[in-house]
Amino acid sequence: MTAHAIPLVGRAAELTEFGSALARARKGRGSIVLVSGEAGIGKTRLCDEVQRGHRQDGGVVLAGRMAPEESSMRLTRPPQGLPCCGC
Ligand SMILES: Nc1ncnc2c1ncn2[C@@H]1O[C@H](COP(=O)(O)OP(=O)(O)OP(=O)(O)O)[C@@H](O)[C@H]1O
Ligand SMILES: [Mg+2]
Repeated sequence: MTAHAIPLVGRAAELTEFGSALARARKGRGSIVLVSGEAGIGKTRLCDEVQRGHRQDGGVVLAGRMAPEESSMRLTRPPQGLPCCGC
């Protein structure tokens, strides 16, 4: 995660969406939030803000990443360190 000189502008709806997903997760109902958009639209920045806020609230952030050559593979198991839901 990077420190940003310019404060986040907008994204209230997206932050609310993430907040709802995290609230559900605290009740044991995990979900996946897909962040997509054109290059430079602010995907990484949005995720940075969500992670920062979650850490400030005492939450834990685990990160996984796929290499470009693996992009056609289905994600069949949770990233290492995440519990499997039994699927
Ligand atoms: N809502 C925002 N408020 C302020 N700055 C922003 C916002 N969204 C993006 N930026 C800034 O714009 C630049 C590009 O954003 P970012 O890197 O998040 O885009 P991206 O969608 O992840 O791009 P890529 O598709 O290339 O990975 C960054 O410097 C980021 O800090
Ligand atoms: Mg990015």
